[in-house]
Amino acid sequence: MKTIIRASLIVLAVAFVFSTWSVAADTGADIFKTKCAACHGATGAGDTTMGKNLKLRDLGSADVQKQSDDELANIITNGKGKMPKYDGKLTKEQITEMVKYIRTLKK
Ligand code: HEC
Repeated sequence: MKTIIRASLIVLAVAFVFSTWSVAADTGADIFKTKCAACHGATGAGDTTMGKNLKLRDLGSADVQKQSDDELANIITNGKGKMPKYDGKLTKEQITEMVKYIRTLKK
């Protein structure tokens, strides 16, 4: 009996670890890769064909980083020029995650 309880506890523990992993995987980095990298490039440098055509600034550059969190969140929410708006496509929390992710790109 004891071993059965112990075995099921292990199964539960493993299931728990995997469930938090899948939630943790839905982070800014993943959203960036799926929704933003086509234009901004995997590293945010804008080094894609699309990024070059759009003359994107490197998201890690000082010019972009000097903007406040609110300003960056505002650009992502409402768009700017050819930058699509993500209002309704990403939640407020996800947009906050994106801003945090952009901060990690700082040079
Ligand atoms: C269709 C291409 C495209 C996609 C997809 C895209 N962007 Fe952009 N993004 C742009 C363009 C073009 C600009 C420059 C806008 C301007 O300054 O006129 C821009 C600008 C920005 C800026 C401001 C940078 C600056 O120069 O001040 C941020 C921040 C940004 N994008 C974040 C994101 C995030 C986060 C995503 C994904 C959720 C995303 N973008 C997806 C094209 C795109």
